Amino acid sequence: MASFTINVNNQVSTVTAEPDTPLLWVLRDELDLTGTKFGCGIALCGTCTVHLDGNPVRSCITPISSVGNKKITTIEGIASDEANGKFHAVQQAWIDENVPQCGFCQGGQIMSAIALLDKNPNPSDSDIDTAMEGNICRCGTYERIRKAIKRAAKAETK
Ligand code: FES
Ligand code: FES
Repeated sequence: MASFTINVNNQVSTVTAEPDTPLLWVLRDELDLTGTKFGCGIALCGTCTVHLDGNPVRSCITPISSVGNKKITTIEGIASDEANGKFHAVQQAWIDENVPQCGFCQGGQIMSAIALLDKNPNPSDSDIDTAMEGNICRCGTYERIRKAIKRAAKAETK
């Protein structure tokens, strides 16, 4: 076991874990941040996507020992003031387009969409497909995801 000090959603925590413990385990089991979901556990579905310094990563295959000083952002950390209904533009677009069905994959979808729009504020359909292809939705919400990303892109450039 070793001790790791990590910054999650701008809060610093120290956790004790084996160095190869996946970040996903730490988020869910140690920090109670259960918005990030376990799907496949082998980097194939995208439901565990979080950001490390703004870049999307699969937390199920990211050892806690590899995180270092990088800032971790989870789905719980993206709204500016969720308690008062102030969501991230991508979350708001997801609400406005009624994207989720069962919802299980949607946290990961949103984290990938935010990372895309941060790098490419006006993505084409093919940019969206490329950025989102690693995020699987068993409910088939892909059309609404694409519409919501475009809506968020418009909202962010207003
Ligand atoms: S749970 Fe990590 S990619 Fe599926
Ligand atoms: S909304 Fe059900 S898996 Fe995507």
